[in-house]
Amino acid sequence: MKQIYNFSAGPAVLPKPVLERAQAEMLDWHGSGMSVMEMSHRGKEFTGILAKTEADLRTLLSVPDNYKVLFLQGGAIAENAMIPLNLLNGKAADYAVTGGWSKRSVDDASAYGKIYVVASTESKQYRHVPPFSDWQLNKDAAYLHICTNETMSGVEFDGVPNAGEVPIVADMSSHILSRVIDVSQFGVIYGGAQKNIGPAGLCIVIVREDLLDRASPLTPAVFNWKIQAENQSMINTPPTYSIYIAGLVFEWLLAQGGVPAIEQQNIEKAALLYNYIDSTDFYSNKVALNNRSRMNIPFFLADESLNDVFLKGAEASGLLQLKGHRAVGGMRASIYNAMPIAGVQALVSYMQAFEQAH
Ligand SMILES: Cc1ncc(COP(=O)(O)O)c(C=O)c1O
Repeated sequence: MKQIYNFSAGPAVLPKPVLERAQAEMLDWHGSGMSVMEMSHRGKEFTGILAKTEADLRTLLSVPDNYKVLFLQGGAIAENAMIPLNLLNGKAADYAVTGGWSKRSVDDASAYGKIYVVASTESKQYRHVPPFSDWQLNKDAAYLHICTNETMSGVEFDGVPNAGEVPIVADMSSHILSRVIDVSQFGVIYGGAQKNIGPAGLCIVIVREDLLDRASPLTPAVFNWKIQAENQSMINTPPTYSIYIAGLVFEWLLAQGGVPAIEQQNIEKAALLYNYIDSTDFYSNKVALNNRSRMNIPFFLADESLNDVFLKGAEASGLLQLKGHRAVGGMRASIYNAMPIAGVQALVSYMQAFEQAH
């Protein structure tokens, strides 16, 4: 099989040992004679898989006991609507706009109630997170929504704002499990799985128990966090195979030494690429130094007429999916947990050779 490195922003690279294990267990999971895809979600085999997957996620993120972990469908975009439905409860909410995804969250939530944009870098091309002291927070907001890693523009929070009693709701789709976080600083953490967790089709919601009593009666049962929490995420059929693969990814992560160990690798991988980009005028990254994402690294060629040649050559060298998001342009290398350092080394070598040749 050809060696390639997949820099897609998502669905994205998965750890090879996880895929190999899924392959080995495909036809006969642990002597059951069945593939996980064929199992009843209420049978003892799958409920065991779900329980272990949740327990491992709790271990990886040190999730406190007063938080529920939900395994839902609909992706992060469904949560954009479900957050106001579950939490607004007749109040208004605060949103910070630091990139395309948090902007989308405002647009989606606005259908359900009054939304205040308390900080925005839209007019500055989303290149930094504004200092928290400048945010116009409302003390009686139902919640404050943030996106802690903006996948399109590669902007990552380097801290958490202090919203007092107002619960913080964080979209962590593209950097969950990449760095150590303190779950107790948040009311709700959510993320689509298809970057650092597993296949698309699964969305993880981690919600503090005291926030479970605020849902509008219009909230669909499958997206009502309280109902799902009371039913072990089984008010409908959960995305069983995606949950199984997520469980294998969590086991792989624990074997790597957990989140602190993978964070060190992520720091090293990101530094390798940023240091090279900063060492030459041939490429650039425009994000403020303290907000540069470790997961999604956009970069631009000084001569953009070379973009197509760059991408064709990269593909021929087995470096795939480097084209930047259509809203941002240029290139983007997504280097999630499962991207080995050898992949980043191969990318930097290719970029150096390309610079020499042009
Ligand atoms: C930060 C962030 N939020 C939300 C989404 C949307 O996720 P989904 O397509 O799973 O709904 C994405 C997808 O790339 C994302 O990166």
